Amino acid sequence: PLVSMTDMLNKALEGKYAVGQFNINNLEWTQAILGAAEQEKSPVILGVSEGAARHMGGFYTVVKMVEGLMHDMKISVPVAIHLDHGSSFDKCKEAIDAGFTSVMIDGSHHPIDENVQITKQVVDYAHSKGVSVEAEVGIVGGQEDDVVGEVMYAKLDDCLRIVNETGIDTLAPALGSVHGPYKGEPNLGFKEMEEICNAVHTPLVLHGGTGIPEHDIKKAISLGTSKINVNTENQIAFAKVVREVLAAKPDAYDPRTFIQPGREAIKETVIGKIREFGSNNKA
Ligand code: G3H
Ligand code: ZN
Repeated sequence: PLVSMTDMLNKALEGKYAVGQFNINNLEWTQAILGAAEQEKSPVILGVSEGAARHMGGFYTVVKMVEGLMHDMKISVPVAIHLDHGSSFDKCKEAIDAGFTSVMIDGSHHPIDENVQITKQVVDYAHSKGVSVEAEVGIVGGQEDDVVGEVMYAKLDDCLRIVNETGIDTLAPALGSVHGPYKGEPNLGFKEMEEICNAVHTPLVLHGGTGIPEHDIKKAISLGTSKINVNTENQIAFAKVVREVLAAKPDAYDPRTFIQPGREAIKETVIGKIREFGSNNKA
């Protein structure tokens, strides 16, 4: 069923595992992720950036596509459609009105007072519709679509404020993670992560899941990270296979012959992540 993230993340925090947010770009991406989650009996979050929504036609198209696939694929695990890095109240409202079950309001580029204020506005609207809300404090580095940032660590006081003053369901405290591949090993602020988790009693989100080694993933989960976002890794897996198939068959033109192997590569990648995050058999 299509649900908000609230229940899945609270269960994950309690059960010491994390639910994956896997970003979608098109039909095949969505099939691959839904298929992987169903096979692994795992809850799953479909992340939709504003750019990806534009690419697919709009929020309404995304919702109807996901609903259609869930029906045809007989999906029984909990699925959330989540706006990733929502840039404003209006964008969040637009996604909610189209049927998204969860939104992130990314006010991380604003001073904390403003971030709290916009986040509160989104929470009030979202919660009146049964939709969950994620907020960000500090800044995730790297680039994802229109979202560009220089790493800035979340401050504990800001985390406490945004949780207590807005009633968000989950918090993404930026602690050194980066969108896209890392240059060398990531250097995550685990001490801060532990402090924040103990103080806010709210499931935490780790952005920039691509390229974080398994021991760091496990450590983050043990410290209260309940949602991990992965995007680039699936893009790399898809592109690699499609490139190989096209190189091997230079005359191929039926798109299905090179998109289907790419779709399989995404599914395999997602299954690996689900097992690493420990959300398999948790649906
Ligand atoms: O919001 C989405 C993510 O934080 C994805 O990051 O592309 O580095 O896996 P990634
Ligand atoms: Zn992100």
